[in-house]
Amino acid sequence: MSFLQVKGLTKRFGGITAVNDVSFSVRRNEIVGLIGPNGAGKSTLVQMLMRAQNPDSGKIYFHGEDITRLNNWQAVHRGIAGSFQCTRPFRRLPVIANVMVPCTVRRTGKKEVKTSTQIQAIEIMKKVGIPHLAKTLAAKLSQGDLKRLEIARALATCPDLMILDEPFGGLNPGEIEMLSQLIKDLRAGGCSDSPLDSGGLSMIIIEHKLSELMKIVDRVVVLCFGEIIAEGTPAEVTQNEKVIEAYIGKEGI
Ligand SMILES: Nc1ncnc2c1ncn2[C@@H]1O[C@H](COP(=O)(O)OP(=O)(O)OP(=O)(O)O)[C@@H](O)[C@H]1O
Ligand SMILES: [Mg+2]
Repeated sequence: MSFLQVKGLTKRFGGITAVNDVSFSVRRNEIVGLIGPNGAGKSTLVQMLMRAQNPDSGKIYFHGEDITRLNNWQAVHRGIAGSFQCTRPFRRLPVIANVMVPCTVRRTGKKEVKTSTQIQAIEIMKKVGIPHLAKTLAAKLSQGDLKRLEIARALATCPDLMILDEPFGGLNPGEIEMLSQLIKDLRAGGCSDSPLDSGGLSMIIIEHKLSELMKIVDRVVVLCFGEIIAEGTPAEVTQNEKVIEAYIGKEGI
């Protein structure tokens, strides 16, 4: 049984079919890259998985459970959390408070060690490289730091599946390298408090910075006009004619 299974997911906005009959799955501990041109439906697709958008048809199964009609916080309790392409912090709260809020709904399991939400928040800020910004108001953050705050907030819930929508946006090369390492570490180690004893995290990552993305993903799903046009290893999709024509171009990544 797949960890996450998506069957025939469709989402329309008026006359636009943003996601059209999409089916794919994610295995435990797997990092899947979701790529495609602007407007392909990537954000719409993951927002349905995070239960922030309702599909018109299709089903989403997580650990075999039909979660298609759950709301966002129920999905978080099941272990799905993510960052949005357009960041949504509590702008008038400092960074630490932004991270403490999701710590209050942190999923806990056998390995739980009782610590205050403040200590948990500090640990998470350190992980994503923003401890020095603890007291800064979210409204004052740069785009790159907002991205890292979004990841911290998702991590704070202790997910088993983390979904990142353009996590490298606004980051400099050094920051991208640091975040890439964090992503690899999280996949290996997971969240120590997770009720699952899997030991590792699964991820879906949307990104246009393809050369950086390809270094960290196991598999890539390519969307175009709401439909999957290719799926495979980074090497396979970057050589795929349809993908070259629709997105990558002849020069490659
Ligand atoms: N809330 C909405 N209302 C109306 N149309 C929408 C809405 N959200 C997305 N769309 C449309 O759905 C299509 C898919 O958009 P989506 O944001 O999912 O694409 P994307 O692949 O994430 O693109 P990008 O790489 O630019 O972020 C686009 O045509 C977009 O204009
Ligand atoms: Mg998008």
